[in-house]
Amino acid sequence: MSLVPIMSTAAAAALGAVLVVSAPASAATTLGAAAAQSGRYFGTAVAAGKLNDQTYVNILNTEFSMVTAENEMKWDATEPNRGQFNYSGGDRVLNQAVGNGKRVRGHALLWHQQEPGWAQRLEGSDLRQAMMNHVTQVTTHYRGKIYAWDVVNEAFADGGSGGRRDSNLQRTGNDWIEAAFRAARAADPAAKLCYNDYNTDSVNAKSTGIYNMVRDFKARGVPIDCVGFQSHLSNNAPSDYQANLQRFADLGVEVQITELDISGSNQANAYGAVTRACMAVRACTGITVWGIRDTDSWRTGENPLLFNGSGAKKAAYTAVLDALNAGGPGPTTTTTTNDPVPGGCTASVSLNQWDGGFVATVEVTAGSTALRGWRVATTLSNGTVTSSWSSNRSGTSGSVTFTNVDYNGAVPAGQSTEFGFQGTGSGSGLTPSCTAT
Ligand code: G3I
Repeated sequence: MSLVPIMSTAAAAALGAVLVVSAPASAATTLGAAAAQSGRYFGTAVAAGKLNDQTYVNILNTEFSMVTAENEMKWDATEPNRGQFNYSGGDRVLNQAVGNGKRVRGHALLWHQQEPGWAQRLEGSDLRQAMMNHVTQVTTHYRGKIYAWDVVNEAFADGGSGGRRDSNLQRTGNDWIEAAFRAARAADPAAKLCYNDYNTDSVNAKSTGIYNMVRDFKARGVPIDCVGFQSHLSNNAPSDYQANLQRFADLGVEVQITELDISGSNQANAYGAVTRACMAVRACTGITVWGIRDTDSWRTGENPLLFNGSGAKKAAYTAVLDALNAGGPGPTTTTTTNDPVPGGCTASVSLNQWDGGFVATVEVTAGSTALRGWRVATTLSNGTVTSSWSSNRSGTSGSVTFTNVDYNGAVPAGQSTEFGFQGTGSGSGLTPSCTAT
């Protein structure tokens, strides 16, 4: 039998022993701060109409680091008449969030529900054009302000088919989802672009259909950065919840829990299990609950949230907070992010101008920190870009933006990479500005 020596602190000190006591890191006391310890966010859906409710706003400002507009950025709200855009509700939610140091998930650009009446009555190429215009207009309005967009919401059918849901959106052609992602990327290159759905919380026919789509998108270079798992659950998290998140992460996308609410008597345990699953998957970058108090929930009478109707913390709250504080591996991120990167970057241009045309070569130089990606914006007042290389471009004249391609986003501190473009007219007066992404 071996004896394990036990020594008191005093005895150890008397012997001159070095006693290393690793004090537990002091636990964070809010959801947002607890999630931030592992580089994650903790968010909630917010309704603009509740921003005058002081209890609601106090909890929002104290606990959450990410905000999703519950309804205000949807198609019926933002484009009630064709070509007439209304951002009042969405801006209200966004400005409240940003003004209080939070980031915003955009929800949702294209969804078969909450289509405005005029769009419900469209089909075919006319609808496709309206859909793409909607994506472009809304992402342009919010350009640079959205952490991640739910570009397409709930496009897959329930049940065993693993296929697409029928809708007028789907009937415009099977490529409508990738067309939407490409349009969103062109308009706001800094936002992460997500596909979002429900009943996808385990390995099942529906989630596998989505998995196959994401794998295909990644293989063909369709710009997708993340998959949202709504997670409207009852009583339990599925036993393969974490494994399901992980299989998507293994495709090279981030995963986010986007609309979490859980009913039933096992609620606190289930909330803890979902949170631990996200913490255990590196690419799970954050969790959003679908409302603050039980009385704010769309699931009337089911009390599925973390705060009761009076705003008091429930057992489910504590289960989530404890799971966040227990830590886990930090998340991995894709290079497309609008998180500010310390160190920054600079861009300088050298111009070869001739009568009627020009070639501009732009040097992007990393600051004191290595770049993971970069974005260069410039104004071209008297010329038009006809082609560009070593970058992704949005725009041809006026405001033109370039972002890195796969092979030149990573630039070591202090070092440079180049891209270029050519055009007709004049390229003089270019003053490119660089943002690390
Ligand atoms: O604002 C009007 C109000 O003026 C009117 O008097 C009242 C009468 O019904 O309706 C109000 O609008 C309602 C709106 O919520 C705001 O409360 C709509 O009828 C109602 O349909 C709408 O429900 C929203 C639902 O999406 C629409 O499908 C819920 O708030 C919202 O939580 C819910 O969120 C969805 C996600 O976007 C996608 N995933 C599922 C999730 C739950 O359904």
